[in-house]
Amino acid sequence: NNRKSNSRGALIVLEGLDRSGKTSQSSRLHSYLEGLGYLVESWHFPDRNTGVGHMISSYLANKSQLDDHAIHLLFSANRWEKRSLMETKLRSGTTLIVDRYSFSGVAFSSAKGLDIEWCKAPEVGLLAPDLVLYLDLPPEKAAERGGYGGERYEQLEFQKKVAHSYQLLHDPSWKIVDAGLPVEEVEKQLTEMVMDCVTTCRNGKALSQLWS
Ligand code: TMP
Repeated sequence: NNRKSNSRGALIVLEGLDRSGKTSQSSRLHSYLEGLGYLVESWHFPDRNTGVGHMISSYLANKSQLDDHAIHLLFSANRWEKRSLMETKLRSGTTLIVDRYSFSGVAFSSAKGLDIEWCKAPEVGLLAPDLVLYLDLPPEKAAERGGYGGERYEQLEFQKKVAHSYQLLHDPSWKIVDAGLPVEEVEKQLTEMVMDCVTTCRNGKALSQLWS
């Protein structure tokens, strides 16, 4: 058995520009961990299935307008409404692979010109990831992949600003992976990092909180 009954799961976050491959790598990681017998769930923010999530979804589809600060706080609220479930899952041994988290919140809002410290403030006290995997892809390359769905932020000029904000945000603990490599190669690199992290958490690493 790969699991110790009293050990916790890992909080693993994938970040990166739109079209950087986060969603497909999340599902590959999910299958991999599941295949090894770990308890694992894939989460995604924004979670569009809540009341707050509906407001966010409508904003992203350009069906409603909101002040930049207001939408920022909704994205944050959308994480807060899932915080206690997140903690319960982790403590009961489930590893969570989370596609976007607070770093998206800060990167996208500060790319609009909001103050970065103001953007971080409502995230303070959320659970800190055990691992942040940044799928690094130049905005031009991401745009070439096509499939920008026409949502509010899916435009090259804006994505360039987001890339810059992510650069200001990341710290040495982030693992930066070249998302331009073949998917199998990206998967291999991510898998190694994830296994290290899952092991560290199983061995008793404490849960901590943002923003540290
Ligand atoms: P998605 O395409 O991953 O569902 O995300 C929808 C958009 O919302 C994407 O352009 C990134 C953006 N976003 C924010 O602006 N703030 C946030 O806190 C999150 C999670 C996403």
